[in-house]
Amino acid sequence: MRITQSTLRKMYENSEKITALTCYDASFATLLEDAGIDILLVGDSLGNVIQGESTTLSVTLNDMIYHTRCVARGSNKALIMADMPFGTFQITPEHAFTNASRLIAAGAHMVKIEGGSLMAETIEFLTRRGIPVCAHIGLTPQSVHQFGGYKVQGKTDDKARELQEDALILEKSGANMLLMEVVPATLAKKITDTLSIPTIGIGAGPDCSAQVLVLHDLLGVYPGKKTKFIKNFMPGAKDIQEAIENYIKAVKMGKFPDAEHVF
Ligand code: KIV
Ligand code: NA
Repeated sequence: MRITQSTLRKMYENSEKITALTCYDASFATLLEDAGIDILLVGDSLGNVIQGESTTLSVTLNDMIYHTRCVARGSNKALIMADMPFGTFQITPEHAFTNASRLIAAGAHMVKIEGGSLMAETIEFLTRRGIPVCAHIGLTPQSVHQFGGYKVQGKTDDKARELQEDALILEKSGANMLLMEVVPATLAKKITDTLSIPTIGIGAGPDCSAQVLVLHDLLGVYPGKKTKFIKNFMPGAKDIQEAIENYIKAVKMGKFPDAEHVF
């Protein structure tokens, strides 16, 4: 049976940790599902790990449709979430719906949108018209030029308060889930405790309802500098399948992320 947003809702209500990984192709979709993953995220991180770009800004809607379709063909169990790439959702809610509907047609069951309260109107527009949405706040990589680099977000009291307010507004707008990227663990916990929708963390501490990692980071195949919240699960595993299973176990038991991987 397919995991749906109501399955995730039940897991959340039972305080069962939800597991997610990025996925960009059919083979890994099948492997990740066999290992027991709940959510496959077709992330625009494919700009980095598949296309070799230094940011996600050049990823197109057609790129996302192509990879969503690839993942969908290899999947029959997990919930498929697809990122709306830069420039496809910021203009108007109508424009966002036109583009989101193409990701849904390609096989996604939920779309993810970067941005805070500014995106509330668009999220309400989409969710009321049948498209589940995960809102993404904190370090939103599509805003890298505005941030002036990839930096921890919500470190000052003002910024922390702003993220808390954004989270509540996004929940009220109908967001099904809230992803927080690279924010202090204490802030992510506070927001998770306040909301009544599941949160997904990456570099956001162990107290979110769900965890996600970029697949290539978990497998240690992405070159270059490793940020603090990443963990390579290959050492000690006999193969890729076992590394994925170890990640899933660690998240389910609340053992990942540990102190070494939080801000
Ligand atoms: O694109 C992506 O992989 C993401 C995750 C890092 C959350 O958005
Ligand atoms: Na992304």
